[in-house]
Amino acid sequence: MTDSHQPLIVLGIESSCDESAVAVYDSQRGLLAHNLYSQIELHAEYGGVVPELASRDHIRKLTPLILQTLEEAGQPQITGVAYTAGPGLIGALLAGGAIARSLAYAWQVPAIGVHHMEGHLLAPMLEDNPPMFPFIALLVSGGHTMIIRVDGIGRYRLLGDTLDDAAGEAFDKTAKMMGLGYPGGPIVSKLAQQGDATRYKFPRPMVDRPGLDMSFSGLKTFSLNTWHKAKAQGDDNDQTRADICRAFELAVADTLTIKCKRALEQEGLNTLVVSGGVSANREIRAKLDALMLKRKGEAFYPRLEFCTDNGAMIAYAGAQRLLAGEHNDLNFAAKARWSLEELKPI
Ligand code: KG4
Ligand code: ZN
Repeated sequence: MTDSHQPLIVLGIESSCDESAVAVYDSQRGLLAHNLYSQIELHAEYGGVVPELASRDHIRKLTPLILQTLEEAGQPQITGVAYTAGPGLIGALLAGGAIARSLAYAWQVPAIGVHHMEGHLLAPMLEDNPPMFPFIALLVSGGHTMIIRVDGIGRYRLLGDTLDDAAGEAFDKTAKMMGLGYPGGPIVSKLAQQGDATRYKFPRPMVDRPGLDMSFSGLKTFSLNTWHKAKAQGDDNDQTRADICRAFELAVADTLTIKCKRALEQEGLNTLVVSGGVSANREIRAKLDALMLKRKGEAFYPRLEFCTDNGAMIAYAGAQRLLAGEHNDLNFAAKARWSLEELKPI
C-alpha cells in the first residue's frame, strides 16, 4: 500500500450520470490530462437521461477514454485510482466503479470511492487561486441544491437544501415544457439574453421565510402556467420563450443570492464557493459576484468546463483522501443516495 507521505498520481473516473469523464491528477504537478465524453445526444431524443442507456454507454466509452487520457498524461505510473461511488444512477456508478476497481487490482494500487458532490465542492481547488477554509459552499447541479458550511475536507455541515426540485432540474423542466431540448440550463441561459426582464415577474420562493432551505418546483410550475397562458392567447413564440427564460433565470439567481447572503451572515464568513452544473450560469455568477463585492468578500468558481461533471474533480478529491491514507476495500458498494455529512474529516 502507498505511504501516505509519498506524492500520488491518481486516475479519476466519473460516471454518475450522463458524462463519462477521466483525468490524471499528480499531487505535486497538478492536473496532467482530462477528457470527457458527453452522452447528451444519446439522451436528447428522450428529453432526459435514460439510466439503462447511460450505463451501457459508460461501459462502451470509458476504456478508450482512459487509454487516451493516460497517453496524453505521458503514461505516468498510476499510484491510486479514484472513482465516483455515489450519489447517482446506480448502474452508471457500477459501470465506472467496476472498471476503476479492476484497474486498481491489476496495478496493485489503492482505490477510493469518491462522493460526487465532494468532487464538485473541491473543484475550485484545482484553480490557481484556491479558496481557503472555512467557507460557505453553494452546490447547484441537476440533482442537488445545497448550502454547506465547509471547515475542511470532509468537515461539512448542511445548512440549507431544496425541499423539492434541484435548481438544475427546474432549468431542465422549464426548457422541456417549451420544447427547448435537453439539458435545459445552457439553453435557457442563452435564450434569456434576448428576453425582456420587465414582461413577467416570477416569485422568489421561500425568501420571506427564515432559514436556508429552498424550493424550485413552484418556479417551474410558474413557468408552465405562464407558457400555457401565452399559448391560449396565441402568443407562444420565440420572444415569449426568451422572456420566460429571462424571468425564470432572474428568479433563481435572486433566490440563490438571498440565501447565500443569509448563510454568510449567519456563519460570520465572507468566502463563498459555488460549484455544480448550474454554477456555469452567467446571471447567477454576476449576482453572487455583486453580493461578494458589496460584502468585500470573495466568490470562487471552478473554470467553466469543471462546473459540470468532469473527471478532474474526482481525481482531485480522491487524491486528497488517498494522501490522508484512506482507501476502500474491493467490495465497496456504489450508493445511489449518500449524504455529504456522512463523510469522514481528513
Ligand atoms: O453538475 P452537473 O453536470 O450534473 C449533476 O451532478 O447533476 O449539472 C447538470 C445541471 C443540469 O441541470 C444543467 O441544465 C445545469 O446543470 N446547467 C446549467 C447551466 N449549465 C448546466 N444551468 C443553468 N445555467 C447554465 N449555464
Ligand atoms: Zn454533478
